[in-house]
Amino acid sequence: MATDKYVKNGPGGIGMATYKEIYGAWRADPEAFWLRAAGAVDWFDRPTRALDDRRKPFYDWFTDGVANTCWNAVDRHVAAGAGDRTALIHESPVTGSSAEISYAELQERVARLGGALEARGVKAGDRVLIYMPMIPEAVVAMLACARIGAIHSVVFGGFAANELAVRIDDAKPKAVLSASCGVEPSRMVPYKPLLDGAIAMAKHKPKFCIVKQRAQLAAELDPERDVDWDAAVADAPFSECAQLKGSHPLYILYTSGTTGAPKGVVRSSGGHMVALAWSMANIYDIGAGDVFWAASDVGWVVGHSYIVYAPLIVGATTILFEGKPVGTPDAAIYWRICSQRRVKALFTAPTALRAIKREDSEGRLPAGFDLSTLRTLFLAGERADPDSIAWAERALGVPVIDHWWQTETGWAIAANPVGIELLPVKHGSPAVPMPGYDVAILDETGTPAPVGTLGSIAIRLPLPPGCLPTLWNADERFRKSYLSTYPGYYETGDAGMADEDGYIYVMARTDDVINVAGHRLSTGAMEEVLASHPDVAECAVIGAADALKGQQPVGFLCLNAGCDRPHDAVAAECVALVRERIGPVAAFKTAIVVARLPKTRSGKVLRGVMARIADGAEPRAPATIDDPAVLDEIGAALGRAGLGEMA
Ligand code: COA
Ligand code: AMP
Repeated sequence: MATDKYVKNGPGGIGMATYKEIYGAWRADPEAFWLRAAGAVDWFDRPTRALDDRRKPFYDWFTDGVANTCWNAVDRHVAAGAGDRTALIHESPVTGSSAEISYAELQERVARLGGALEARGVKAGDRVLIYMPMIPEAVVAMLACARIGAIHSVVFGGFAANELAVRIDDAKPKAVLSASCGVEPSRMVPYKPLLDGAIAMAKHKPKFCIVKQRAQLAAELDPERDVDWDAAVADAPFSECAQLKGSHPLYILYTSGTTGAPKGVVRSSGGHMVALAWSMANIYDIGAGDVFWAASDVGWVVGHSYIVYAPLIVGATTILFEGKPVGTPDAAIYWRICSQRRVKALFTAPTALRAIKREDSEGRLPAGFDLSTLRTLFLAGERADPDSIAWAERALGVPVIDHWWQTETGWAIAANPVGIELLPVKHGSPAVPMPGYDVAILDETGTPAPVGTLGSIAIRLPLPPGCLPTLWNADERFRKSYLSTYPGYYETGDAGMADEDGYIYVMARTDDVINVAGHRLSTGAMEEVLASHPDVAECAVIGAADALKGQQPVGFLCLNAGCDRPHDAVAAECVALVRERIGPVAAFKTAIVVARLPKTRSGKVLRGVMARIADGAEPRAPATIDDPAVLDEIGAALGRAGLGEMA
């Protein structure tokens, strides 16, 4: 089997130098384009076709190919003699440690954990839930599942037990892989009690849990159900890479939707490998031996794609960072690691840059480090504000590349493809569509909007390899959520426009999803929690602009008639309730009691109007508003909470 090869510049290769030509080649013959890109992957059986459209409007890719993601990410590099190359660097300023793991060592650890799972009855197609902090075992866990064909579902550590329980009931995992604790700068997060609470709450009960005991805090194990990680792998057999169809789901990753129930995004393994390999070469300009650092968490899609799978598939070295951009120990940590580890490309969220900029407004800190290997800084996860981009460009002297994508797509919809050519950077735009994405800006009638006009951003079907084929056990929800508004298109949920050069501008969400510190959250889910408080009659949650986190959730509460409890007490209970049910990641800190909510005459709550008041902007109330005087009351209440124009 071939190794370390990846298709530079995709189809056409040599001689196909420009973005325009490559995008044009995809448009001219998508099937040939993706079959050629599939050459970057080792297959047990090569796919005979790229697109499988037999279940339209559900599409999948490389379904008759047979491969294994772990083989491609780990084993093939060892087989090719690169076993000594560093696969993973763990940088953990919160525990004061760092470690390096070679490809050969990674293979050994992954194969043994796979063996431990198989020995306990886990088979291809079974689900395994992973609830872990940013330690190497989290990466080992994902790859071990990929190796034996178990479908992993990683849950971010900042979610509460209740959210974990919802995911357990949806994915029905046979096993859970976890650790005793996470380490946040201000506190230890004991994972095991959260996991125990979640399993107690869930209807579905996993057969067993394998728990990594960390030195910082030991967990109590249930001898009936829990197994110590080190003991489980010590005598485990070496598992083989299962031969899996391209359509075999590699993982389920839950993301926020418009209701409290998260959506289980499914990732098929074949298209995922092909798309990620293509993106590493052509978007990030990363290949074998390069050091790539995505400063995210394995609980998010960025972590799945660009901490774990993509860098390893191309034989690069990936960095797993357990820390924060500031305070662990200081605002220079990113530059220190980039310098010490010879990082070629760094990928982070604009929030992280804003946090660093706040402590180093002149951008002086990078100058204290040798950053000669750093070629590019990539940003995604939320709208990149032009100020932060300009600050980073000045401080680092390298291109700062915004790119736009979502959990559903798994890789960039729009980017500046540095691996092909650096296109002119336009601040405020994540640049141009990548091959595979036919992006359209549509008006309310589904008609393409003129250049420069705001509309819904949609992608003409089929979506490219790597994107979700459906939602886990929820074909109908997939169709309803994404395909029903604009027939023939996938609705991204983002609004924006395109300019005369084809650059895309992503401005806002069209649904109730908000983006807090690069984390996608559902205001609907928070409203469900607030509404469950016994004193709350009615509520609304909006996203208000926040200088650091982009947005922050703000809750408005109308109390039951006759409730004479102090408003502050109810508000504090509501804040605590959201933390308890959704988790600290919701960053829900502000609940305000108001007499009534602004509504239309038909009773629709005007959340958008409230958000504009919170941001100090002209509210622009619709003509259908029931009582415009409510807007003044909302403005005054926000002012008392230190938000909005009256703050
Ligand atoms: N496990 C448990 N709790 C977690 C957690 C985890 N893995 N990650 C975050 N939390 C908790 C935090 O401790 C915090 O709790 P607190 O309310 O007790 O302080 C809360 O969740 C919010 O966390 P966070 O959003 O990280 O805010 P912060 O104030 O601790 O840090 C920033 C602010 C800007 C430094 C931080 O948000 C950041 O690094 N943002 C970049 C995000 C990013 O890279 N996203 C990737 C998407 S591509
Ligand atoms: P997630 O699924 O958590 O990755 O969140 C995806 C959402 O984050 C997108 O639908 C956008 O709303 C937002 N987003 C991600 N990247 C960008 C970007 N570069 N510019 C603007 N918004 C972005």
